[in-house]
Formats: sequence, C-alpha cells, structure tokens
Amino acid sequence: MVVIMPPLSRTKQPDLSTRLLAWYDVHRRVLPWRAPAGKRGDPYRIWLSEIMLQQTTVQAVGNYYRKFLQLWPDVKALADAPQDKVLAAWAGLGYYARARNLHAAAKMVAHEMGGTFPASAESLRALPGVGGYTSGAIAAIAYDEKQAAMDANAERVIARLYAIDTPMPKAKVELHARCSVLVPDRAGDFAQALMDLGSAICTPKRPACQNCPWTADCKARKLGIQEQLPVKAPKMVRPLKRGAAFVALDKTGAVLLVKRPDKGLLASMLEPPLGPWEENFPSSAKALKQAPFEAAWKKKPGIVRHGFTHFELETEVYVADLAKRPKFEGRWVAPDQLREVELPTVMRKIVEHAIEDGGPLFAAKPRTLKKFRLRKP
Ligand code: ADE
Repeated sequence: MVVIMPPLSRTKQPDLSTRLLAWYDVHRRVLPWRAPAGKRGDPYRIWLSEIMLQQTTVQAVGNYYRKFLQLWPDVKALADAPQDKVLAAWAGLGYYARARNLHAAAKMVAHEMGGTFPASAESLRALPGVGGYTSGAIAAIAYDEKQAAMDANAERVIARLYAIDTPMPKAKVELHARCSVLVPDRAGDFAQALMDLGSAICTPKRPACQNCPWTADCKARKLGIQEQLPVKAPKMVRPLKRGAAFVALDKTGAVLLVKRPDKGLLASMLEPPLGPWEENFPSSAKALKQAPFEAAWKKKPGIVRHGFTHFELETEVYVADLAKRPKFEGRWVAPDQLREVELPTVMRKIVEHAIEDGGPLFAAKPRTLKKFRLRKP
C-alpha cells in the first residue's frame, strides 16, 4: 500500500527527534532488558524481550524474561533446551506459538548461523516468529538501524502527533511511514523513547500534554481530540464455547494431565482431560460419557471462564478423588510441580478451581481467577 503524505517540514523533523531524545535521556524507564544509557544491549536479550513483548505488557513480561535468562543465558543454551522445558517456562504468558517459534529460532541461530544473530531487520525476518515489527525493533535497539519500531504506546503517540484518525489496525501503515521519517541516528533510543513517552505521558486517557516534549507540534492537541486517538476498530464479538473438564486426583493429590495435539490451539501443552467445546454445557449424564474413565465424578459448583483471541470459553469442572490410579495414558503431576510444567493459564485455572478447597496450591501467586468464577449454577 502506498501512503501519500503531505510534505513534512524539513526543519521540523530533526527538531522533533532531538527533543524526544533529550526527554528520554532524563526520563527513560529502567527495564530488565534495557542496556544502560549509551550502551548497546546483547542481541539475544533484545530478541528474547521483543518476542515476549509481542501481545504482552511490559509488566507481565519482567519475571518471565528474568527466568528465561537464568535458565538459558545465551542462544546456544536455549537451542539445546528440550521443548517441553521451554513451554513450561513460558506457561502463563499466552500465545504459545511464540514459545515454539522462539525455540525454533534459537536452534536456527545456534546451528545454522554460528551462534550470531542476523544484524539487519531484513535478515532477522528469516527467524521464525520475527515479523515486520519485531525485526525493526530488534534492528533498531540492537544495531541502531534506522527502523521505526512501534508498540501500541508509540502508535498512539504518532497517531496524535499527526492527528491520524484512520481506525486501527488500518492506520498502522501510515503510522509507520510517519514515524520512519523521524528516526535519527540513535534509532534504538528513539524507538524506546517513543514507547516510554506513550507509557508515561501520552497515555490513553488524560495524557499529560503539559509535560510532553512534542506538545507544541501535536496536531491532536491543537484540535483537542487527543483522547479520541487512535481510533479503535469496532470490538469483535467473540463466540462463546462451553464444555466440561475432568480433574482426577490420586491419593497424594497428584493431578492427571494429558498432552494436547502438536498443532493448533495450545499445541503440545498439558491439560486435564476435556470434553468437546460446544454451544452448551453437557448435561451431567452426557458429561459422564465424555469422562476419560469411570469414576465418582462430582461437578464442582461454579464455572471457569477464559478469553481466547477468537472465542470465550466456559468450563464446568468435574472432580474425582481416586483411591488407585486408573490405567490411562497421561502424566500425574504432584501439586508442588504444577508450576513447573507446561500448563497454560486456562488449564491452570481449571485445576485450581478443582482443588481449591484442598490446599493453597497456587497461593504464592494470586491469580485473576476470582474475577472469572462468577456464576453459581
Ligand atoms: N514493547 C515492545 N518492545 C518494547 C521495548 N523494547 N520496551 C518497552 N516496551 C516495549
């Protein structure tokens, strides 16, 4: 797509980036993956953080990033890790294709590229999971390549600076083009400065325009429409699916988990045995037919809700306390090991719901579960 832009004042462009960098030099955030001022970071660390930051907030990423670096301090170590260990360390971050791509990319760098990361946006795109945005961000931050790297915060800043009212995500191409002409030599700092400006000053609601280095140039502010930008796409109504989950516990409290298929949603992750996801919950009689084996299954009051990108899921949870483990292929995971395995958030919520009264299994990390367990049938 070709974006036709009105001419930009030549004198204004350096001025904008210089002012933003001066602001950044004073106000930059300290983030775990960020190199100290004036230093360039390790491409492995920058790549790892950018993959984690795709579709996930800075706040949520911090602990995962530190854990990954502790387990796998360089790309070779990550490449040599078994995939289930990588998925287990990723569990809770969501969008698990990212973890599989991360692992595949680490293998590619370690085994086909002599352990050295590609050093340009274009060549970085050869790595699984590295698309247009991420390659630009890594190239800018790791190598100061003049690339516009925009997260949602940066997009908001540029949409307001130029009062771009095309709805997202259609506006992305124009935002990128507008940002590209502003990128100075310190491309990595500029990218991160835009992100920080969006996070600290140019916030979605009540932006602190009086503290913004670009306030005099901001078209949206002049028009008084800064809070209306960027224009969001209309909200998608997600279909609702419902089903039953079967949480079997042995005498020791170990939970039976099975592996999901290698392809599709939550591929290769663990889950308790599940019934099919349909329009309605199965009746209790039907649910018992869906159970993995005969046992004294009891339905727990309440439901577990979870939002996926394209649908919402409600699950009723059936629990069985077994005196003896049945013959059934799966993994029995002790309660204190549940945090160490590749159990995605939705399945973690289901297991937690099932064993809730049995002990403070997940007490170390309060989850948002309460918010979801709303309705008693
Ligand atoms: N979002 C995406 N990449 C980021 C980065 N490097 N710093 C802060 N937020 C980000």
